[in-house]
Amino acid sequence: MDRRVILKKRSTPATAGQELIVTCPGGAEEVLADELREVGFADVRAETGAVRARRTGEAGIPEANRLLRTASRVLMPVAAGPADDYDAAYAVVRSAPWDTLLPLDRTFAISATARSAEIRDHRFLAMRAKDAIVDRQRERLQGKRSSVERHSPDVPVVVFAGDGRVEVSLDTSGAPLHERGYRTEHGEAPLRETVAAMMLRAAGWPRQRLLVDPFCGAGTIAIEAALIAGGRVPGDLGRRYAYQRWSWIGGVGAGVGDGGAGAADRTAGASAGIRIVAADVDPAMVATARRNAERAGVADWIEFSVSDAAATLETVGGLRTPGAGDTRRGGGGVVVTNPPYGERLAPADLDAVYGRVGGAMKQALPGWEVWMILGEAAPARRLGLAPDRRLPVFNGGLAAQVCHYQIRERTRR
Ligand SMILES: C[S@@+](CC[C@H](N)C(=O)[O-])C[C@H]1O[C@@H](n2cnc3c(N)ncnc32)[C@H](O)[C@@H]1O
Repeated sequence: MDRRVILKKRSTPATAGQELIVTCPGGAEEVLADELREVGFADVRAETGAVRARRTGEAGIPEANRLLRTASRVLMPVAAGPADDYDAAYAVVRSAPWDTLLPLDRTFAISATARSAEIRDHRFLAMRAKDAIVDRQRERLQGKRSSVERHSPDVPVVVFAGDGRVEVSLDTSGAPLHERGYRTEHGEAPLRETVAAMMLRAAGWPRQRLLVDPFCGAGTIAIEAALIAGGRVPGDLGRRYAYQRWSWIGGVGAGVGDGGAGAADRTAGASAGIRIVAADVDPAMVATARRNAERAGVADWIEFSVSDAAATLETVGGLRTPGAGDTRRGGGGVVVTNPPYGERLAPADLDAVYGRVGGAMKQALPGWEVWMILGEAAPARRLGLAPDRRLPVFNGGLAAQVCHYQIRERTRR
């Protein structure tokens, strides 16, 4: 049967049209907007660090939380209005129906961001917002109020003040969505799973069918690549979401819910002939990456090895991918990687690593594409390659750039 027919039968017109705010790492907005459209959201608009979209009969809160690979949190707005001081912010927060949104026996916590000229103190904003919520409850619920629980609240509340407005939302995700559940171990400089997914999407993976990460660390890029290539839903690795506790809020779990794999298929690539190579010079990191891949259920997809990055590139450059000849664009595969930028290496050693890796790319990988995320301190010039695209991105709040290099084909004599 046609999947769309099944999805339509499950649709919930009562919640269709409601706006959601989906946050993401800065720089991933356009990629997230594309994902939202593919999953079936309507009226998708990218902002800074977030994308707004409307729920439809086939795409709601469960789909946004489970299917989007570059989303950080899915917020459900409950009040918004102009506010150029803390009293006005208090009034906006108090205008939401907290007596029905937040039962007395449920806990809450507030996360506030203060970015307007007049409202700059996020702690004071959070305190005023907390007062507004409990005052509204006391007024409507015989003087009673809910308790604050900072670490695992039933209802996480997000308050944002910026450009003379305050917007109040419920955070339907709870723990941020980059915490997929598989990466319980990592090294010193892990890459956010959402940023890895953004790089892979920018690279057009799995079109190339062969992917290499020669600085794999905890394996994030390789594991995300395997999840994408296999059409695996990122939210189906055992984690829970805040909205799943909200039985008192009508329609919050409405959508495809249990059957979102259909929507995932639309973002997945063909899995035939896929090869993913992940290597690191540190044997402990390779062991960690392998265990993370096992937890994600994709260890069989990835070839792990302990190797210096330049040697890894030289090795893969000498191989051919069976069956990939027709679909490769200009070469054998793609490198997607997050090289070190000075966590443990002395500057001279770091320069040498970048020099060797750039040389290996030019020698061994003619026609390949390379996508690298480079921190501000990375000695990118040592690669000896000129990027033809740079995408600014924030990895866990740190400014970085995703650079694209097209390695030139060797001239035949
Ligand atoms: C920024 S971390 C990569 C983090 C990874 N993306 C993750 O999510 O965990 C850089 C990695 O490069 C490795 N490394 C440093 N020098 C190397 C070299 N010459 N060859 C291969 N790996 C190297 C380090 O052991 C470290 O795990």
